[in-house]
Amino acid sequence: MKFVDLKSQDKKIKKNILNKINNILSKNDYINGKINNKVENKFSQKYKLGYSALVSSGTDALYLALRLLKKKYKKGEIITTPFTFFSPSETILNAGFKPVYADINLSDYNISVKSIESKINKNTICILPVHIFGYPCDMNKIMKLAKKHNLFVIEDCAQALGAKIKNKFVGTFGDINAFSFYPTKNLGAYGDAGLVSTKNKKYFNYLKLLKNHGSKVPYEHLIVGENSRCDTFQAVVLNEKLKTIDILNKKRNLLAKNYYKLLRNNNNVVLPKYDKNNKSIYHQFTILVKNRDKLLTHLSRNKIPYMIYYKKPLYKQKFFKKNKIRLKNTETVVSKCISLPIHPSLKNSDVQRICKTINKFYFQ
Ligand SMILES: Cc1ncc(COP(=O)(O)O)c(C=O)c1O
Repeated sequence: MKFVDLKSQDKKIKKNILNKINNILSKNDYINGKINNKVENKFSQKYKLGYSALVSSGTDALYLALRLLKKKYKKGEIITTPFTFFSPSETILNAGFKPVYADINLSDYNISVKSIESKINKNTICILPVHIFGYPCDMNKIMKLAKKHNLFVIEDCAQALGAKIKNKFVGTFGDINAFSFYPTKNLGAYGDAGLVSTKNKKYFNYLKLLKNHGSKVPYEHLIVGENSRCDTFQAVVLNEKLKTIDILNKKRNLLAKNYYKLLRNNNNVVLPKYDKNNKSIYHQFTILVKNRDKLLTHLSRNKIPYMIYYKKPLYKQKFFKKNKIRLKNTETVVSKCISLPIHPSLKNSDVQRICKTINKFYFQ
């Protein structure tokens, strides 16, 4: 059993992808190729994103969004979550802003709206929520709060392509929205790739300039931009994988259902929030457990792979030397969380074995 299994997942589509890549090789159409625009339109239509631009990574998608914000504000505070990958905080810092951490909910591990509200002050310019592990943040409340205080919102959808709040996809609430196609994401490229989207045409035009050296016409530079373009190879891979993403997300959901069923009677385990109005894509299946260290040893002994996402809150990273922040729920979650395998090639019998092993640990 593997924690992630990209090889089996791609078995059926690999040949097709290789043929298409060969075609690109024969045309030498390597960067921002003809197909890129087609793929951008597909994403926009399928996920109701408005305008979208493929970029070189999810990190770049966030950074471009923040550079756009830089047009309006030289400095300012951005409220975000300490329980995620470093990228959102890193790009906030790289853009010259200050990340301010709000606490998370114990139930879904997402940023708490109440905590966001308590952090808003005259220096706040933006809220940057992350739909962690594929479960949507409470975007309706976040947008209401943002409107009340005139704040910009950047949605980090890196782990949640296809997740929904009622019938609305994530990535359709914020002013600008960022997606990652890092290979282990639910829709993964064969390398780094990402997408930035917005419903605002003006923002979009600026993002397009930013991602391509500030240039519309070769060698004419209207602004100082970046090189954040997406390779044509990656666009080809994404185009093929888009055809299978709904099936893969469905598979993740079925596996999650099995986890809920088989672990629900174990009161040593807290399962991730389930709400029929919020459709998670289960990028991870993350539980909170008692006696984590001993359970981890037990899982390893039984050859069950797991990951700890995330081992510490971002405010405890060495970089923030003098940071004295302590956020109660975040501290609880990092001390108890375990992510169990949930990739689409996992079998139901694997989930059964995992749950049996966990239940045996507590009830033997
Ligand atoms: C929540 C989150 N935001 C941003 C990123 C950055 O994406 P990328 O690796 O494509 O730069 C990642 C992941 O890798 C992520 O998990």
